[in-house]
Amino acid sequence: MNLIEATNVKKSYMTKDLRTEVLRGISMTLKEGEFVSIIGPSGSGKTTFLYTLGGLEPFESGEIMILGQSLRSMSGKAKADMRANDIAYVFQSYNLVPNLTAYENVLMASALSKTPSPSRVKEVLSHVGMTEHAHKYPGELSGGMQQRVAIARAIVNNPKILFADEPIGNLDHDTGLSIMDLFKTLNQTFHMTILMVTHNQDTVSYGTRTLSIFDGTVVRDDHHGS
Ligand SMILES: Nc1ncnc2c1ncn2[C@@H]1O[C@H](COP(=O)(O)OP(=O)(O)OP(=O)(O)O)[C@@H](O)[C@H]1O
Ligand SMILES: [Mg+2]
Repeated sequence: MNLIEATNVKKSYMTKDLRTEVLRGISMTLKEGEFVSIIGPSGSGKTTFLYTLGGLEPFESGEIMILGQSLRSMSGKAKADMRANDIAYVFQSYNLVPNLTAYENVLMASALSKTPSPSRVKEVLSHVGMTEHAHKYPGELSGGMQQRVAIARAIVNNPKILFADEPIGNLDHDTGLSIMDLFKTLNQTFHMTILMVTHNQDTVSYGTRTLSIFDGTVVRDDHHGS
């Protein structure tokens, strides 16, 4: 089943009088169960593409079908609803709420969903190896630990798609690889579909497919198993 079908998507940014076309007719499909790495030079439109696919950024032409619905036809409320329940993002900067504990950060995402579940919060904190640190505040955790909590928060509502924008970009090499192992487990053991932007060529081997983006279009699409 295709979770995303993007067809000929175009998007530009206006700054002063200058219009920059960032997505230049980009197309891709994302199938259930895939773990896709998006690579490409800085400024090629990777982040913009990820945000556009999840309805965080508008686009001008083309079509995006996500979870069987056209993004164009969805209201703001429908998109917010989808983001609270069916898709999730992990960012390079972990974006945890500083005055909430790890547990509370994850609990908040659960509470905002249609299916709040404190037992599920404990379960996902265990999946990411953070049970022992659940009652610490983000400031008391290392970068890798904060990213684990952010991942727990992202998966707590069992999203159909997990988007990640350079999730290990701020981490040292070994910590980054341990986070990649976690993504691989999420994909292989928990069957989570993942679309991840990465700068690091070493990390693409963790996924099942690599999309290369250059200047707002897909220039290569390599399936490589896992
Ligand atoms: N909010 C914005 N307003 C104007 N221009 C923007 C905005 N966001 C991004 N751009 C421009 O769009 C282009 C693509 O940016 P984007 O962040 O998607 O690239 P990227 O591939 O993620 O790069 P990086 O690898 O550095 O993260 C760049 O030229 C950038 O300057
Ligand atoms: Mg980016």
